[in-house]
Amino acid sequence: MTRRAVIAGIGHYLPERIVENAEFEATLDTTDEWIRSRSGIERRHFAAEGETTSNMATKAAQNALADAGLSADDIDAIVVATSTADLTFPSAATMVQAQLGMTRGFAFDVQAVCAGFVYALSNANALVASGQANRVLVIGAETFSKIMDWTDRSTCVLFGDGAGALVLEAQDGTGQSDDRGILATDLNSDGRYKDLLYVDGGVSTQNTGHLRMQGNQVFRHAVEKLASTAHTSLERAELSADDVDWIVPHQANIRIIQGTAKKMGLPMEKVVVTVQDHGNTSAASIPLALSVGKSRGQIKPGDLIVTEAIGGGLAWGSVVLRW
Ligand code: ACO
Repeated sequence: MTRRAVIAGIGHYLPERIVENAEFEATLDTTDEWIRSRSGIERRHFAAEGETTSNMATKAAQNALADAGLSADDIDAIVVATSTADLTFPSAATMVQAQLGMTRGFAFDVQAVCAGFVYALSNANALVASGQANRVLVIGAETFSKIMDWTDRSTCVLFGDGAGALVLEAQDGTGQSDDRGILATDLNSDGRYKDLLYVDGGVSTQNTGHLRMQGNQVFRHAVEKLASTAHTSLERAELSADDVDWIVPHQANIRIIQGTAKKMGLPMEKVVVTVQDHGNTSAASIPLALSVGKSRGQIKPGDLIVTEAIGGGLAWGSVVLRW
């Protein structure tokens, strides 16, 4: 018998305000055509004034709990993946805990930028597998609109806000690759690449800062590292690309998504794509895509899914799971 972390429910939340590419044409030297053709992005959501990461995370968590038929009292731990927490401390996760009315268990944040949800899922899986928790809320939530330099056309058109959440639940499996739940994970980072993607401020530098990115350099690393980590996870699960029903990638750029699928030898029909509607929501992008993919009827029980992401650090990784 193997203790598996199985997905018991999923949900998401997107802020009300939708910004189409054309809106940027009024303030920047850019076009809808450039943004669409270079990134695949058509629109994104931006949080309202006063709407925070923990507010959005809580709404996504409530939707995931409702989908699972559970209440906050059934949860042992909350892990929030974010780089844009409401405050320097306490964690966004403890704020979500309070907003859910949960007075037991424990909560903490994971910060691995766009790879954050893969890191959070891997850590939550370890909590379940080791018996430290039976049910864990794993949330990705971001308000990247708060760290944009609105004069920098090469970054501010690419990002959006949102949140996605899932409930992981301990269930007994056989230890074989046909079990439901998380089957394998792979995490990597290489801090030598810090300058490719970072925010130029923080607590110890006394300002919040803005996102800075050498987009074409990040692009160069992305396809190769994403295909490689997906391959490693599949190998650990004793599976191959032929077994995959859905790739649910980090939604940064349609060309990276297409390049990774091609390198893995899989057609785009097997990829859940939401980048056109959400932009890059960093750690929120994978749970958002999983939730939308399920509600579209793409993801079904028993499907084998590979999620993969890369972001600031560089940090990257993947998770293989059976829905
Ligand atoms: N509108 C019009 N022109 C623009 C815009 C814009 N919004 N932005 C940049 N350009 C210009 C540039 O100034 C440049 O002009 P120049 O040739 O005169 O200097 C030209 O377009 C080409 O710029 P590139 O950066 O080479 O364009 P590229 O084809 O690489 O596309 C993009 C840029 C979309 C950023 C792409 O490189 C990309 O998606 N990179 C990966 C980003 C990513 O995946 N990030 C991942 C993680 S994010 C995280 O961790 C937080």
